[in-house]
Amino acid sequence: MNGHLLASLDIGTGKVICAVAELSPEQEFCVTAVGQEELGGALRRGMVVSVKKVAAAIESAIEEAELVLPWSVEDVFLSVSGEHVRGFAGTGTVSVGSSDEQGASEITREDVAKAEEAARAVGLPAGCRVLETIRRDYAVDGFERLREPPMGLNAEQLSARIYTVISDKVATQNLEQCVRQADRFVSGVYPSALASGMAVLSEDEMEMGVVAVDVGAGTTDVAVFKDGTLAHLGVVSLGGDLITSDLQSLRVSLQEAEKLKTKWAVASDSMVDAKKSMKVPRLGGRGTFTVSHAVVSQIVIQRVEEIFEAVSREISKSGLDSTELPGGMVVTGGSSRLPGLVEAAGEVTGLPVELGKPTGFETATELVSSPEYSTAVGLLLLGLRKVGESERWTRERFFSEVKSKIAEILKKLR
Ligand SMILES: Nc1ncnc2c1ncn2[C@@H]1O[C@H](COP(=O)(O)OP(=O)(O)OP(=O)(O)O)[C@@H](O)[C@H]1O
Ligand SMILES: [Mg+2]
Repeated sequence: MNGHLLASLDIGTGKVICAVAELSPEQEFCVTAVGQEELGGALRRGMVVSVKKVAAAIESAIEEAELVLPWSVEDVFLSVSGEHVRGFAGTGTVSVGSSDEQGASEITREDVAKAEEAARAVGLPAGCRVLETIRRDYAVDGFERLREPPMGLNAEQLSARIYTVISDKVATQNLEQCVRQADRFVSGVYPSALASGMAVLSEDEMEMGVVAVDVGAGTTDVAVFKDGTLAHLGVVSLGGDLITSDLQSLRVSLQEAEKLKTKWAVASDSMVDAKKSMKVPRLGGRGTFTVSHAVVSQIVIQRVEEIFEAVSREISKSGLDSTELPGGMVVTGGSSRLPGLVEAAGEVTGLPVELGKPTGFETATELVSSPEYSTAVGLLLLGLRKVGESERWTRERFFSEVKSKIAEILKKLR
């Protein structure tokens, strides 16, 4: 944040998006600029393949956003995805009070810190970078799921539950390197799944229990929220580009397969039109052939089912069943545009499913109202949270608190 604006960079498998939020004269945060550039294979499953190409795409996406801004974008909040981004649940238990005391003692700040530290240290792999540390809840003799640290209570034992999200250190360094090569600074790195969840979910949903699923080009990001915090995060290395390459098995070009997917296919049996067929150009340009809507859609349906079976496995890792997730599932990301994907996701996972588009900014949202922008918009929300030095997850409350703080900063600068 350079005082005037907040910028985010979603480096996805298919493209780089730069989104910028500014404080309006009415003291409302709104997204005022967006830039985008294709990546063309320079990133695979969240891992950088070519620093030079990714840096050039970053530069170009930022420059496009800067065209409509009176300021330049100097630093960005960055997202990271890929199978190397994972969450670990840890529980740390400590005895309260000194060891020579018998019975219950009053829980102090130090006891809480010790329990949290013990929970944090649980089994993190070597070579990882900690992206997020989330205090889930606390337990004392006889009470579980206490949201606030139970300081002042008398107890013999205290447990803290912490959820830690990590990424591969080198993979993350490579992404940051690309930003540096584009002459910008990284203000923070967040998991894409968390960012997308922040953009499409409401505070109430996160409280009740809900899953956000961002189906992109190369990855599907899954974030489970419960009791207002992140309960599980995982990334599946499957996405919309696989559906396109499956369709190429019909012996059509990549462009033709992409067209079939985005303009014609459906992802649910109930939407297949048995009477429909169309002529498509043969690979190599030698004439055309006819394919039925059923054949094309069946290829899509199979892959979409596979994706949501993998999503189901991620959800079950959270230890929460569908009764504990009454908010169901909200799907977003470019591939969520596939007609019938919502129905298919519901059938496979057994959860109520809805489409999610980014919300959270009060005006100018039409700039970023498509599901592809969820990560970039969520990053702005996470960036705002960081700027406001608030650990709270609540978007609505957070906005009103942070707005006045940032307005103060801007008054000094302008
Ligand atoms: N109308 C549509 N129907 C079906 N698929 C679509 C449609 N529009 C875009 N897609 C697909 O969405 C994918 C791109 O989504 P998105 O922009 O969210 O991915 P990304 O962020 O670049 O990748 P990732 O998050 O996997 O790293 C592509 O596979 C594209 O084919
Ligand atoms: Mg993405």
